[in-house]
Formats: sequence, structure tokens, C-alpha cells
Amino acid sequence: MKQITDKIYYVGVNDRNKTLFEGLWPLPNGVSYNAYLVVDEKVALVDTVEMDFFMPFLENIREVLGDRPIDYVVVNHMEPDHSGSLALIRKYYPEVQIIGNKKTFDMMRGFYQLEEGLVEVKNADSITLGSKTLNFVLTPMVHWPETMVTLCVESAAVPQQQTVLFSGDAFGCFGALNGAIIDEKMNCDEFWAEMERYYSNIVGKYGTPVQMALKKLAGVKIDYICSTHGPVWHQYIDKVIAMYDRLSKYEAEPGLVICYGTMYGNTERAAEVIARAASEAGVKNIVMHNVSKTHHSYIIRDVFRYKGLIVGAPTYNTGLYHEMDVLLSELSQKDIKGRLFGWFGSYGWASKAVAEIARWNEEKLKYVPVGEPVEIKQSLTPETFAQCEALGRAMAEQLMAEG
Ligand code: FEO
Repeated sequence: MKQITDKIYYVGVNDRNKTLFEGLWPLPNGVSYNAYLVVDEKVALVDTVEMDFFMPFLENIREVLGDRPIDYVVVNHMEPDHSGSLALIRKYYPEVQIIGNKKTFDMMRGFYQLEEGLVEVKNADSITLGSKTLNFVLTPMVHWPETMVTLCVESAAVPQQQTVLFSGDAFGCFGALNGAIIDEKMNCDEFWAEMERYYSNIVGKYGTPVQMALKKLAGVKIDYICSTHGPVWHQYIDKVIAMYDRLSKYEAEPGLVICYGTMYGNTERAAEVIARAASEAGVKNIVMHNVSKTHHSYIIRDVFRYKGLIVGAPTYNTGLYHEMDVLLSELSQKDIKGRLFGWFGSYGWASKAVAEIARWNEEKLKYVPVGEPVEIKQSLTPETFAQCEALGRAMAEQLMAEG
């Protein structure tokens, strides 16, 4: 039995089997689907888990409740990694009432054909369980339209009142929970970069709604953040809120991502020249990725992290090298603002890559162009070598100027 705090229990599960989350995002350390029980005069289950994990989920619930029924299940988010067990919960607990908002229930009918026993809430509505009250805060588009969070507060009669935020995917993180549930009971080192990767790829497009949600919660003293993935935050609440604030404002650290595609090493060599020049001009944080080797989710995480981005790729089939085309398409969907952007490309017999990257930036990315793009025919010449150095230096100077 995993207790978070007075009357609140963890009943989630770990998934160490799935290779790709949503069929897209690698899970080197697995992922957890978190759900919680508030056991007061009434019992509320907050979120469920992916359907495949229903039986261990049910065992976790019964370990806490025994034969006691569940009065409410709160649905903060309808994505099936959290709503997938709703229909089965209803079968095992036929009297349970399902709490959600109007958009939640529109989706619930479509996904699970659940129509009965629904309790619709609006922003700032609340339900009292006994000494604890659940307050519902609608946070649309973090990162689906129906998303909401639930604040669990205690009555004034409780001596040491604690406030728990059930935050849905917000403040979530890739990585299974290896025993401990609360941050202060584990080494969190491996979670920070994975939290950034989770945010960048899953929530990253919705910076403005995240900012609105943070404003709605500003001023609330929160003791625990219970998200639907990863650790329960207690010791590091300030850190994770600051991280969300920074990422959702698209604020970046000084630093440079150089990402390239290469077939026979000529474009890669240009990337090395650019990196050397940027380093010699004073940029300390430089990360380099071969776009065909590093999964794009890690590259996108680094583009969220650093201010500068230089990409380069060969021409292929008289177009842009496919992996780079896909990466730029993915980046264009994230609405990342204010990045400094340089580019280069190569060709053997038909020049296209440089023009295509320029087109991506003009039409979709809209990053700030820096330096002169470099176009390399077949292999580096002394002239294009010097142009690569100039591009690296130009980016470095701009990064230093912006601090
Ligand atoms: Fe973890 Fe948006 O689902």
C-alpha cells in the first residue's frame, strides 16, 4: 500500500513493456500510469490507467479499499492511457459516479459509450468527500480540450492542512517508478531530462494554455503534485513549476543544437567545422545530433532547451533528405518561438536541400535567421569550409549578444 499523505494513496501501475509511447516516443526507462485514491467519508478515485493494466490496477485499489466501494472517479483527462480502465471500473463498481466536464463526457461517449452516472462539473465547482474537498479547475488544451486538474483541500478543522494537486499529464514525466513514488524518497536525476522530453513532445505545442493554467493555480500553496506519469512531486515542487513556466514561455538557455543528416560524411564534416567555430567563438553548450540516429524526440527536447539551432542535410531525390524533412515538420508543429536559426546543405548533382530548409523556415518555423546558409557541392572546398566557419561564428556572436 503506497500512501502519499493523509487519506491519499497511489494506485497506479508501471509499463516497462511498451517500446514507443503513443507509437512515437521511445521509453528507455518505461512509463508509469498514475492513479490515486482519496479515502474519506466518501471515496474518490482520481484517473485510471491504460486498459491492459486493469487487473494490477484493481489489485492496488483493493489493497487500499478492501471491499469498500468507490463513490466517484474523477476524470482529469480522457486520453486512453488514463481513461482506458473507466468502463471496467464501472463494471466492478457499478454505483460509481464519474466526474468530468462537458468535453470529457462528449469524448467518453465516443470512446467508451458511457452515458449513465455522470456528474458534470464546471470550472471552480467542488465536491466534498468529508474532511477533504475536491475543487475542479478547467485547464483546456493542456494538452487536450477537456483537460482539467483537481485540487484536494482540507477543511479548516484539520490541524495541518495539506493541499494536493492532481494535475493530469501536467508535470508528468517518462520513466517507470522503481519502488518509491514520492520524489524525496528516490534519486530523481534520471527524471529531469525525461520530464523535458515529455513536455517538449507531448505538451510543447500548447505553451499559451499552460501559461493560463499556471496563472489559475498561482497563489495556491501546493504540498503535493500528483501527475499521471512519473514521480509525485513534493520536495521539488518549485523546481517543476519553474521548469513548466520556462518551457511554456519557450525560454531557452544559451547554447546551440547542431543537427545534421549525412549519407557519406560530407555533410557531417561541415557540421563538425561549424561546431568547432562556434566553440572557438565561446559557445560552451553545444549538442550535436545525427538526425538519422538520434530519435527526434531528443532533438526536439534540445531545441526547447537551447536558443540556437543549425541544421544541415543532403539533397535526396531532388528534395530534402527525408529524416531532416520529418524533423522540420515535427518542429513546425511545436510552435517554438524565438530560436536563432542557421542552415547548410549539400548535393551531388542537383541542389535542393538548402532551398528546402529555407522554405521550411520562411513558411513554418519562422525562427530568426542567423549567418549565411552554406551550400556544399559534393565535398567541402576551402571556400565552403570558410563559409561553415563563418556560420558557426555568426551564430556564436548572436548567442553571446543575446546572453
Ligand atoms: Fe498521459 Fe495525454 O495522456
